[in-house]
Amino acid sequence: MASFRISVIGGDGIGPEVIEQAMRVAERAAKNDRAELAWNKLPWSSDFYVETGRIMPADGFEQLKKHDAILFGAIGSSKCPDAVTVHELLLPMRRNFDQYVNLRPSILYPGVPSPLKDKAPGSIDIAVYRENTEGEYSPVGGRLYPGTAPEVAVQTAIFTRRGCERICRAAFNAARSRKNHVTSITKSNALIWGMVCWDEAYRAVAKEFPDVKADQLLVDAAAMDLVRRPEQFDVMVCSNLFGDILTDLAAVVTGSIGLASSGNINPERTFPSMFEPVHGSAPDIAGKGIANPLAAILSSALMLDHLGLKTSAAAVRNAVYKVLADGKAMPVDLGGKAGTGAVGDAVLTALN
Ligand code: NAD
Ligand code: IPM
Ligand code: MN
Repeated sequence: MASFRISVIGGDGIGPEVIEQAMRVAERAAKNDRAELAWNKLPWSSDFYVETGRIMPADGFEQLKKHDAILFGAIGSSKCPDAVTVHELLLPMRRNFDQYVNLRPSILYPGVPSPLKDKAPGSIDIAVYRENTEGEYSPVGGRLYPGTAPEVAVQTAIFTRRGCERICRAAFNAARSRKNHVTSITKSNALIWGMVCWDEAYRAVAKEFPDVKADQLLVDAAAMDLVRRPEQFDVMVCSNLFGDILTDLAAVVTGSIGLASSGNINPERTFPSMFEPVHGSAPDIAGKGIANPLAAILSSALMLDHLGLKTSAAAVRNAVYKVLADGKAMPVDLGGKAGTGAVGDAVLTALN
């Protein structure tokens, strides 16, 4: 029996609540490929920071490297500054492990109401390819004369030709097994250095894929089109910041952020890839047992896919479709009454 070592970071707020359900489901589903998932649960979180003064041990990334994949809940809490949670754990993980593809699918599932009227199930099916290692999130800049009237803050966005090309190439490759259509989103009319570099890289890569339709939109118009005619999108490729914003929008257009899954993927497999819901720690509902675990569960399906456990990944997705279409265990954010554990139970029942 094949065995995979998975490190699990539940993190803060609803992170551990939803990850518990994802682990139950993934473990059961992996049997479809006669595979076993060996979990290594790591307590790294804001509470860990309060106890130890660090978000993770000094050799944290070395520990993570020894795994086949990472399953992540969410981080962020009032107990620990973003400078630590986001900038010592989440974003360095994406960069250190060269997880330059952030794949974020948004699908309107049967049984799920869209806030947009008259949208048929399946009519919205978008795969966002978000650049995940540079762009606007590059930790480059500084502050001069902090806290004074003449203060200067510099926040530099980094766009490399290589960085732009590789995420665009990943998007075009993905389009070939979808509807052969990529839309690149930039704001190159205003951001004339970095995003013009992106546009040029995009058009050069598009030439390698003459069979794929290559469109471009400015991000303001793309935001509008995600509401006005989301059916037109197949694969979207965009920068780090635009991908962050557009995937919350795409998530809600297809029902709720409680369904939005993601993979932070190192396609070369030099480092482990990391799988996490798009949502955060949701402090407003943490501890209430009402968080929707389906985003985490669908993220575990992306992980199973990445590990080559295709039958298991498909089984998880089918079980989630069944639960949503059936409607008896509808999560609270989708208008139902089922709590986190009850939704997990329903997915497990659908798997069996
Ligand atoms: P959020 O995604 O945590 O919550 C936004 C809204 O969506 C809230 O109303 C919340 O209740 C709801 N929501 C989110 N997930 C849900 C789920 N599974 N089921 C039902 N409802 C859900 O975003 P926020 O409030 O802006 O951020 C809270 C904290 O999380 C911040 O510290 C932020 O930095 C952090 N964050 C972390 C990650 C991550 O770890 N990858 C992602 C996003 C935000
Ligand atoms: C996400 C989150 C993160 C991001 C935050 C926590 C830095 O919003 O994964 O979408 O912006 O990438
Ligand atoms: Mn986000």
